[in-house]
Amino acid sequence: MIDLTGKVALVTGSSRGIGRACALRFAEAGADVVVNYVTSGREADAVAAEIAALGRRVGCVRADVAEEEDIAEMIGFIEREFGRLDILVHNAATGGFRPLAVTTQRHFDAAMHTNVLSLIHLLKAASPLLERATGRGKVVVLSSHGTHMALPMYGLIGGSKAAVTSLARHWALELGDRGVNVNIVEAGLVETDSTRRLPGAAEMFAGRKFKTMTGERMLAAGDVADAVLFLASPLADLVQGQTLVVDGGAAVHV
Ligand SMILES: NC(=O)c1ccc[n+]([C@@H]2O[C@H](COP(=O)([O-])OP(=O)(O)OC[C@H]3O[C@@H](n4cnc5c(N)ncnc54)[C@H](OP(=O)(O)O)[C@@H]3O)[C@@H](O)[C@H]2O)c1
Repeated sequence: MIDLTGKVALVTGSSRGIGRACALRFAEAGADVVVNYVTSGREADAVAAEIAALGRRVGCVRADVAEEEDIAEMIGFIEREFGRLDILVHNAATGGFRPLAVTTQRHFDAAMHTNVLSLIHLLKAASPLLERATGRGKVVVLSSHGTHMALPMYGLIGGSKAAVTSLARHWALELGDRGVNVNIVEAGLVETDSTRRLPGAAEMFAGRKFKTMTGERMLAAGDVADAVLFLASPLADLVQGQTLVVDGGAAVHV
């Protein structure tokens, strides 16, 4: 049983999908939680209400993780209202699904700022709090098979995930001696708002049945949240700079 009572967790992009599942897992494990969103205020409020109903303290912050000022304000809010930050999950991501041949500078900047540069801004602002966590501070970054495999229409996001995975390892090197672990969860395909927009989504969801090695059990947001919860817990104190793949075995199936 993982008990995070007394800890405070921030999950970027937790109004929906995998981020929402992580926020709820932390609350179920006893942590107080800060929910972050950029456009889905109503959904974020609903997640916050679910967390409050579990008896946890909750904050709900609109902050665009692509903007350094928004991040500084969000971390300032956490310091004022909660006085600590023990766990940070960088889950928010964007990018759009299109061929690289039609990708523009604007598309590139949006994906790289939201998915990659954000991790620099987040940890510059939050590491002083994470270093003072009870036990070791924990950072978990959401990544995908796009880091090392090619998927149709996924080049820009895949490239950004390769970059953020590398940044996470380098943050582990910089923060490890200062009491903070930084690890990565590489998730397989999960049906969420964003993946439902993937061209050929229905076929890809159906195709998982033949790739995964978990019988009828298909990967869901809660399964990814379970892996994030483990890496955020004291059970993973000696896991540093690593990637945990959660995909039901799909990536090793020829
Ligand atoms: N789903 C998959 O199959 C899969 C597989 C591997 C990895 N992943 C990774 O897992 C993470 C979550 O994926 P998902 O499918 O759950 O995504 P999703 O359903 O599209 O949700 C994305 C979340 O990120 C937030 N967000 C987007 N841009 C933001 C910004 N600039 N600032 C703050 N929040 C922002 C959204 O907030 P709003 O609602 O306010 O827009 C939303 O809460 C991503 O990093 C993704 O790359 C997903």
